[in-house]
Amino acid sequence: MALRRILHYPEPLLKQKSLPVTEFNAELKQLADDMVETMYDAPGVGLAAPQVGELKRLIVLDCSGKDEPDDLLVAVNPEVIAGEGDSLEEEGCLSVPGYWACVKRYAKATMRYQDVEGNHHERTADGLLAVGIQHEIDHLEGVLFVDRLSPLKRSIFKKKYLKMLKEQGQEDDA
Ligand code: NI
Repeated sequence: MALRRILHYPEPLLKQKSLPVTEFNAELKQLADDMVETMYDAPGVGLAAPQVGELKRLIVLDCSGKDEPDDLLVAVNPEVIAGEGDSLEEEGCLSVPGYWACVKRYAKATMRYQDVEGNHHERTADGLLAVGIQHEIDHLEGVLFVDRLSPLKRSIFKKKYLKMLKEQGQEDDA
């Protein structure tokens, strides 16, 4: 296992669409293992392959609470096949460190996916996991949670965030 470097906004690769996984081989398992390790290390509750520079339809999630047992979900070629209700929860993203915003999602979502062996599964989730599933699948379409903000909020985000990155860059140079 190895930690992977997480790409940060505004890295262009994060805007690209990921390709379906067709080979369920050792390389895929290695990538999944690396992503799990990287997610727990960050720490974060979810990570999508494009965030570590791999344009593959693979996501990992663990939205279990602090006092709950681990609930690791590794999903290949995931898709939301049903959603209901509205949720407006604050989200963050390992690719947009230091920024959080409320995003409208389904409150309950059913995901169809494959495991790393290629077996098909379905999982229905609500709460944090439902939001996480939708957030991570968005990454596979090249969509970040900040892309789902209203145009006004998004332009404020862009200005503030790029200014923050610039200031951080200057600190690094100092
Ligand atoms: Ni994210």
